[in-house]
Amino acid sequence: MQITFAESTLPKEGAIVVGVLEGRVLTPTASTIDTRTNGALTRAIAASHFDGQKEQSLILLAPSGLSLTRIVLVGLGKAAELDALALEMFGGLAMSHLLAAHDTMAAVMVDAIADAPLPLATMAAHITCGARLRTYRFDKYKTRKTDKEKHSLQELQIRTTDFSAACKAFDPLNKIIDAVFLARTLSSEPANVIYPESFSNEVCHLKKLGLSVDVFDEHKMRQLGMNALLAVGQGSARKSLLIVLRWLGATDREARPIALVGKGVTFDSGGISIKPSASMGDMKWDMAGAAVVVGVMQSIAARETPINVIGVVGMVENMPSGTAQRPGDIVTSASGQTIEVLNTDAEGRLVLADALWYVQEHHHPVLIVDIATLTGAIVTALGAHYAGLFANDDVLADKLRAAGEAVGERLWRLPLGDSYDRQIESDAADMKNTGDREAGAITAAQFLQRFVSHSVPWAHLDIAGVTWSKQDTVTVPKGATAFGVRLLERFIAEHCNAQEVSRPKERDV
Ligand code: BES
Ligand code: MN
Ligand code: ZN
Repeated sequence: MQITFAESTLPKEGAIVVGVLEGRVLTPTASTIDTRTNGALTRAIAASHFDGQKEQSLILLAPSGLSLTRIVLVGLGKAAELDALALEMFGGLAMSHLLAAHDTMAAVMVDAIADAPLPLATMAAHITCGARLRTYRFDKYKTRKTDKEKHSLQELQIRTTDFSAACKAFDPLNKIIDAVFLARTLSSEPANVIYPESFSNEVCHLKKLGLSVDVFDEHKMRQLGMNALLAVGQGSARKSLLIVLRWLGATDREARPIALVGKGVTFDSGGISIKPSASMGDMKWDMAGAAVVVGVMQSIAARETPINVIGVVGMVENMPSGTAQRPGDIVTSASGQTIEVLNTDAEGRLVLADALWYVQEHHHPVLIVDIATLTGAIVTALGAHYAGLFANDDVLADKLRAAGEAVGERLWRLPLGDSYDRQIESDAADMKNTGDREAGAITAAQFLQRFVSHSVPWAHLDIAGVTWSKQDTVTVPKGATAFGVRLLERFIAEHCNAQEVSRPKERDV
């Protein structure tokens, strides 16, 4: 589907979307149409529960006096509350109706609204963003689609007065959406298609954006002492890999980078501690953290963000076999700390332990954020509404939380502490890889913290509950959500802004 920007005149064909503010207040285009149709809009609204609130909509078919197929009225809520997120919801809701209809052409009319906080072009850009986010689908393996399953919409026009400014404002958002879609696709692909090597082939395509991509094979990882990561992959016929992506966008190419670390378990059967079969298929998306890191790297490169960022993803397949690790095995991680592997299904932390250690030792980051589908316990605690946030630094935690709120990817912080850390003490090694059932998400984070230096701000995002959705939401169709791409992109952009603000001051002194 094509998304285009055009002048604010009424189109002659197809469907159109117009906004209505809370309290049944028609936007300028809505009232023009109302006049042209002898009050059809006012009458339809009066006969319905629709009163312009957010997430409300009302559809009018084949209005007389106009050659349009349908008019989709979408609630804008209160003008003063029309922030980026509200506008994305508007766009996403509009798109959900357009996709359900049969039109090939549709237009969203974006009018200036008194008291709205954002400039018109920015408003149009966010509406477009919400609309495009909703169009994602992973259907490449469906060879026989019913008419209902096919999208008939070919073109969406965003009609607004300064449409070239709107188009320009949409460009950076469009690049973030490309990254979201990449992460959604990587997560959706089954494990016979996406395994460490094929994943790394996809990542290598990003070199054309100016990213450097290094792929470490098992031999190289053994040299680096990454026995914890390697132990997870040793039962699989697929070779494990560590992928290091680098974006050097800062004027000082030597400046210490921000580090992102992702869990890339391309399939998690549980290993010898095998999972029950019921929803084992879900574990094809146990590499979503890695997919998010790759998505963020793509978007910051595409946007030429002026900062240095390093992304590290540990890619392994966790399988039971004659060569698989056994419960009770003790491995020596790259950090030198030994781990008693009591449950081979607690594998993500083993992968992250070595990846976290590697990035600190070799790249000296200013801060580290890791992202992983780490525990079922976080799903029990927070469900699909928040991802778990753990951090050794309050400032970092607050910044991540704020970035998440701004883009609609919400985080809830959970505690860390010595009493939890004691739960992973082992009789035989420096630590064991599982605590008891209590506080499972926290003990997993506690495990990771043992591989992070006290002096570096670090945060861990447990996305196990939010990375796959069972139902459509306004801007996220069901399936892979790519939760984290927008949040981390936003966090990094804000970090850059803060640096720019502080730089002139440094020069003064
Ligand atoms: N990948 C899973 C966590 C997971 C569970 C993600 C459900 C998404 C949905 C992880 O590797 C795992 O198996 N964790 C175990 C840890 C336990 C053995 C300590 C868990 O949470 O059950
Ligand atoms: Mn597991
Ligand atoms: Zn896992």
